[in-house]
Amino acid sequence: MAQQDRSIYLDHAATTPVRPEVQEALQPFLEGDQYGHPSSMHRRGQAARAAIERSRREIADVLATDPGHVIFTSGGTEADNLAVIGAAQAATAAGRVPRVAISAIEHKAVLETATPVDAMGGEVITLPVDHTGRIEPDAFQSAIEKGLAVVSVMWVNNEMGAIQNVAELAARCAALRVPFHTDAVQAFGKIPTDLTTVPHALVALSGHKIGAINGVGVLVVPDKALIAPLFFGGGQQLGVRPGTENAAGAVAMATAVRLAAERQPQFENHTRSLRDAFEAGVGAAVPDAAVVGQHGARAPHISCLGFPGTDSESLLMQLDLAGVACSAGSACSTGTLEPSHVLNALGVDPVIAVGALRFSFALSNGTADVDRTIAVLPGIVEKTRHLTASLERS
Ligand SMILES: Cc1ncc(COP(=O)(O)O)c(C=O)c1O
Repeated sequence: MAQQDRSIYLDHAATTPVRPEVQEALQPFLEGDQYGHPSSMHRRGQAARAAIERSRREIADVLATDPGHVIFTSGGTEADNLAVIGAAQAATAAGRVPRVAISAIEHKAVLETATPVDAMGGEVITLPVDHTGRIEPDAFQSAIEKGLAVVSVMWVNNEMGAIQNVAELAARCAALRVPFHTDAVQAFGKIPTDLTTVPHALVALSGHKIGAINGVGVLVVPDKALIAPLFFGGGQQLGVRPGTENAAGAVAMATAVRLAAERQPQFENHTRSLRDAFEAGVGAAVPDAAVVGQHGARAPHISCLGFPGTDSESLLMQLDLAGVACSAGSACSTGTLEPSHVLNALGVDPVIAVGALRFSFALSNGTADVDRTIAVLPGIVEKTRHLTASLERS
């Protein structure tokens, strides 16, 4: 019998296990007779088509949007790329300079769209945030008054959980007829995300963050004219995202979207109480630990903690050895530890930022996970500090 992995998983913002209900819904596609091509005329093809369109309707119902606005993608990255690059290309096709504004704390899936937008002869404006991760309203306003192809501001930040007031940002954009995109990958199912508060927005979701499977996502496209396609082929999905649709992925996504929406209040209460207990416990044991963005509006499931005098990679590896999985808040590039662009944008002291970790919670975590992590973390921080100090001396 396979040995059960008893390690503590506090990395749900990276990916979260496939829900049992999703596994069940996938069975006919994996080992049953649901293998038809959705564009085939025969019965098996029609069954696949029906599964996709049913999934699209179910997602649209949950999101309170039109089924025609739900475009399946290969994940959050593609949804973000399609929104930003697609809008820039639509502006170019209309004879306008593709000017785009994105917040300084976007996920790389948005941030790195700057390269193709630049290559199109466009301009990318970076919108600053305050120390809690909130967009600076004046900078936002003056950017959108420049006449933009699209503005992209994420609903919840993936590294430290900052929540933006997207309803207000979207309303400001709507008043100036500027297309608005929000990456809701870390928001959906975690905090209330009523899409009727952002009625004209492009909205990106990712399946594997909500217990669907890897490789499926959704972009809500309220008006096809907002974006040009990035792919070309068989004209599927109104030509917005052609290519043979992933029927199994669509079914997994619809199941996970429904469950995530149903359980959102429970998820929020549960993860908030775990996170608060965790931060209080770590604060008591490691008094100089810093909670990034502590006093701002934060999603309940993400805690970004910085430990001065350490580096996140060493902490991460030792925690893994102690049976705790989490993420680093810094990226190791060319052998040096660089604070993440998110923590830099918030103005976090580099000494704290290079020793930052992200812990992220879900309904499957319990107080025992929190207690165990609090029990091992202080020793690991202490050991890393000694090691770092002795390396600096040598
Ligand atoms: C905020 C955010 N946007 C986009 C993505 C990318 O989504 P995917 O992994 O589905 O491509 C992630 C995943 O880490 C994310 O956290």
